[in-house]
Amino acid sequence: MSKAYYITTAIYYVNGQPHLGHAYEKVITDVIARSRRSLGEKVFFLTGLDEHGQKVQQAAQREGKTPQAYCDELAVDWLKFATTLGLTHDDFVRTTQPRHRAVVQAILARLHGEGHFYVGEYVGWYSARAETFLTDKDRRPDGTFDPEYGDVVELRENNYYFKLGVHQQWLIDYIEANPEFIYPDYRRNEILGFLRNNTLEDLCITRPASRLGWGIPVPFDPAYVTYVWFDALTNYLTVPAALGDPGLPGWLRSAAGAGEGAAPGPSLWPADAHVIGKDIVKFHAVYWPIMLKAAGLPLPKRLLVHGWWQKDGQKMSKSTGVIVDPVSVVADWGLDAFRYYVVRELDLGPDGNWTDAGFESRYNAELANGLGNLVNRALSMLKKYRGGVVPARHDELAADAAEAARGVEQAYREYRIQDALVQAWGLVNRANQYVDRTAPFKLAKDPAQAARLDEVLYNLVESCRILAVLLWPVIPASAEKIFAQLGLSGQPSCFAESAWGRLAAGHRVGDPAPLFPRREPAPTGAAPAHPAKR
Ligand code: MSP
Repeated sequence: MSKAYYITTAIYYVNGQPHLGHAYEKVITDVIARSRRSLGEKVFFLTGLDEHGQKVQQAAQREGKTPQAYCDELAVDWLKFATTLGLTHDDFVRTTQPRHRAVVQAILARLHGEGHFYVGEYVGWYSARAETFLTDKDRRPDGTFDPEYGDVVELRENNYYFKLGVHQQWLIDYIEANPEFIYPDYRRNEILGFLRNNTLEDLCITRPASRLGWGIPVPFDPAYVTYVWFDALTNYLTVPAALGDPGLPGWLRSAAGAGEGAAPGPSLWPADAHVIGKDIVKFHAVYWPIMLKAAGLPLPKRLLVHGWWQKDGQKMSKSTGVIVDPVSVVADWGLDAFRYYVVRELDLGPDGNWTDAGFESRYNAELANGLGNLVNRALSMLKKYRGGVVPARHDELAADAAEAARGVEQAYREYRIQDALVQAWGLVNRANQYVDRTAPFKLAKDPAQAARLDEVLYNLVESCRILAVLLWPVIPASAEKIFAQLGLSGQPSCFAESAWGRLAAGHRVGDPAPLFPRREPAPTGAAPAHPAKR
């Protein structure tokens, strides 16, 4: 069976509130997944939740719930969030699922059996809130730790260590030999700089169960649970293994319940892209490749590292009220307006800045006056002047449409999804100018211009059809509305349909309805006084 294009998001801390940063990562991953499907690839899109760790245990305790019950409740909200964002994920992994526990334990057992671990004493400053030991580098100039770490206490304990250090040179060589592994370039250079200038310390991969019960038990020593990052990173293997990916070794598949007798599942591993934020590159570009190499498994092909969003130039934080609530923006402005803005505003890589004014301005200029107006004008004029019947094919905008389609396709293939929109808007603007230049409302008044009016109308409605196909990965609901208004029964979800001339003469279009009504008020990106229930 041919391998599917396998793409993942990070898995989200279950106890955090879904916010703009999470929504962004999920949306861009969904856009990439949809664009690949549209281009004819088989795609498997995975997202999910990171549910273990001290913070979850403590929060559950405070609410008088078991950690599992606490996670189960929050997982409902996160699943709803995925639906709100229109995600087309194929599976949703939770680190508390038995299939995941089994895979983590199988990998731990394998690495232990092959001598990758040893026991050592750890003494250090521990932040329960960050679930991490801190070093002197984390101290502020006055010697204290940032209050965001909460209480920091000195801990001394025995733990299992993973011999990362011995793989350092191999990893440097690997990243140098595979420049596409970390995208964009500057993130690769940061990691290479880090690896070349520091000695990689061995990784502490356990926590005493006495201190932290809420984790996956270490199979060869019940006194310990696994370190959350060892647990979390493994999620990317869990679903392929559980589904019986024939490319994975039998020991892993059978651990996940898809052993010898089971029918082979989809071929997924290695992942084609892990979409992650810039803060978690080290885990994915250093720990994860070494874990995989030690387990004898192929490495993912690419890490797509996106930047972080701020709001009005400030770090988002609930306590200061500087936040963007994606759920209320979607409720107020529509899902596609939100998806469009985040993809159009921020290229995959740099940091971004949300402003309500910027959102509103893009909405009005690019969606309402740009795409929306084009579709509305094209369909209204066809209705008014030709009873909604498509005239004979005419190719005046065919070259512009072909150029846009080529540019958009290339951009999707190369993960330049912001540029895909820029390319598509080349056609939106071209077609709107074409209306102004050809002035069909004047042509309609002159019976001698009837043939010319036919030509203009064909070019306009056909451009709208093609735009629906080009834009479907980013604004699927609007693209589907365009198809419906054009009276087309299929979906705009197949890129090959962007070829010029598919709209047949004699076809009758449906009724136009505004896609993006013009609006004045600012979006409700700021936290509402009474946050809407997700
Ligand atoms: N649970 C870990 C990831 C484990 S992956 C094996 C984690 N979770 S998180 O919920 O804190 O973050 C999830 C993703 O959201 C990360 O990729 C992170 O970079 C991203 N973002 C969190 N805040 C963000 C912004 N303000 N802007 C953009 N993305 C941000 O880390």
